[in-house]
Amino acid sequence: MAGRISVSIAAKLWLLLLNLAVVMLVSAAKSRKLIETNMVFYMHDYETGNNITTIAVAGNPKKKWGILEFGTVFAIDDPLTVAYDRNSTQIGRAHGIYVNSAADGSDLHFLMSLIFTNKAYNGSTLEIQGADLFFLKYREVSVVSGTGKFRFARGYALLDTAFIDIPNSNAIVRWNLTVLHY
Ligand SMILES: *[C@@H]1O[C@H](CO)[C@@H](O)[C@H](O)[C@H]1NC(C)=O
Ligand SMILES: *[C@@H]1O[C@H](CO)[C@@H](O)[C@H](O)[C@H]1NC(C)=O
Ligand SMILES: *[C@@H]1O[C@H](CO)[C@@H](O)[C@H](O)[C@H]1NC(C)=O
Ligand SMILES: *[C@@H]1O[C@H](CO)[C@@H](O)[C@H](O)[C@H]1NC(C)=O
Repeated sequence: MAGRISVSIAAKLWLLLLNLAVVMLVSAAKSRKLIETNMVFYMHDYETGNNITTIAVAGNPKKKWGILEFGTVFAIDDPLTVAYDRNSTQIGRAHGIYVNSAADGSDLHFLMSLIFTNKAYNGSTLEIQGADLFFLKYREVSVVSGTGKFRFARGYALLDTAFIDIPNSNAIVRWNLTVLHY
């Protein structure tokens, strides 16, 4: 009888300790502070000329594929630089796709990873998704997640076109990105 009571007390104590451990883990997670990081950089998107960064890979079979043509899908490997100059210091690259997703041709839907190679965020990535309504002066896309230093990241980026040459499908887009992360 006495033996059975002490077993159940031990079991209760064990459960109590387990609960405490769980509570402590949860509060440790809560006490980690979110950091806000802001960065401005330039994305170089070249379909023609030397060192092409963007290729049309699919589209409407009845039309000529292009950035203005609904349904055209592009694969990209765009350099991200600190300044407008294509030869300025590179901080990473944008890998992924964009697709013209508006019947009137006005929206390039972005779906891409920003892969950082600069000292501060080397190897970390941010995931971008959103509507690039590129006829607007400023538009906003979401930062939906991240890896490395940007785990649990969430945020947004304001985009504006610093340079555009529609006939040759070349553009430089300025990004002003704000992200919350641990
Ligand atoms: C193209 O890439 C090559 C090799 O990386 C580089 O030497 C050259 O400067 C680049 N050209 C332009 C216009 O960026
Ligand atoms: C970048 O460097 C390449 C090779 O040195 C050069 O041909 C090109 O004109 C430069 N681009 C700019 C925008 O300065
Ligand atoms: C980034 O990481 C790679 C691989 O670990 C390394 O080769 C490279 O030198 C690093 N770059 C910087 C700027 O720290
Ligand atoms: C970047 O965007 C923020 C708003 O998110 C704005 O306050 C800030 O002035 C912008 N910075 C630059 C350099 O454009």
